[in-house]
Amino acid sequence: PSLKESFKNDFFIGAAISKSQINQTDSLSNALLKKEFNSITPENDMKWEQIHPEKDSFNFETADKYVALGEKNNMHIVGHTLLWHSQLAPWVQNIQDSATMASTIKAHINKIAGRYKGRINTWDVVNEALNEDGSPRESVFYKVMGGENYIEHAFMLAENADPDAKLVYNDYNLWKSEKRKGVLRIVKNLQDKGIKIDGVGMQAHWSLEGPSIEDIENSIIAYSSLGVKVSFTELDITVLPNPWDLDGAAVEQSYEQFEGDPKMNPYPVKLTDSAQIQLAKRYEDIFKLFLKHRDKIERVTFWGVNDEQSWLNNWPINGRTNHPLLFDRNFEPKKAYFSVLALKNK
Ligand code: G3I
Repeated sequence: PSLKESFKNDFFIGAAISKSQINQTDSLSNALLKKEFNSITPENDMKWEQIHPEKDSFNFETADKYVALGEKNNMHIVGHTLLWHSQLAPWVQNIQDSATMASTIKAHINKIAGRYKGRINTWDVVNEALNEDGSPRESVFYKVMGGENYIEHAFMLAENADPDAKLVYNDYNLWKSEKRKGVLRIVKNLQDKGIKIDGVGMQAHWSLEGPSIEDIENSIIAYSSLGVKVSFTELDITVLPNPWDLDGAAVEQSYEQFEGDPKMNPYPVKLTDSAQIQLAKRYEDIFKLFLKHRDKIERVTFWGVNDEQSWLNNWPINGRTNHPLLFDRNFEPKKAYFSVLALKNK
């Protein structure tokens, strides 16, 4: 049985999909998508710079196809993401006063969430509003609106525009106890003001080395204790140490894991069997934890269907030597896929 079949009584199993997958040009990818997954997230095509490139112009072509694809396949459709400081259209970066920013955010959310009212199941309303220590990220929204009030502004607008959609705060490194405090502050503030928030999205861009199962578990418990669901929204496991943690020495050392010399070879370097086994064990440990807390978890979305699609291929250091997902570059299931399935199919 497939991933979605195996976990159908536990949580949605999703994948981020690219423009070419939305346009259904990747036949192998689309076959896997339909067979294995029951939720989708648009990797890039609903981000501000794509969907609202100029003040008075919206580009819904790909987003419309994306939602239609999800409906056709009866999937849990995620909208990603209404407010994010990155991939923001340049014209928004130049807004100076809070009234204009507030009305711009209102126009953006009303137009987009309103267009898909009743069709998007979950919105990543705000993405990455925190610094690593849990303090507010001083994005253009924060600076121009004079504080974190843009967050409640966004959640209120999203609820008004689409009352049926579940509303999520999404961020990375939410396993960290420091950053966790920031999430609790955001969620509590919304709840204290009677503003709807349904979930916390932990992106889960993790590696073989970390984070610990304990840290992840502590966050699952902390967030769900506020009465919101937890989702893992962008799961991938970097086999090499995280590219952002690597220095020269580490790069040399990490290449030992691979046959051949990826620096000279622009094409993907095969994972050694030991690396495949490590990856399988890591995914197995993570899904054991997810199953332990299945009542707290709404969805587990992989950030891509197969290794070829992964954003991690573009990291300058390890580039295409990464193998972060359950399906390889030939869309074949890896050891990790079978380890995860075995948890539900004894
Ligand atoms: O579409 C253009 C293409 O026309 C152009 O030829 C090409 C080369 O410049 O760039 C293409 O745009 C790229 C886009 O992905 C689509 O492939 C952008 O340069 C590139 O920056 C963008 O990267 C995305 C990244 O977000 C940037 O923010 C990744 O695909 C996407 O996986 C990644 O996803 C984010 C989540 O949204 C939020 N959480 C973190 C996660 C990883 O950064």
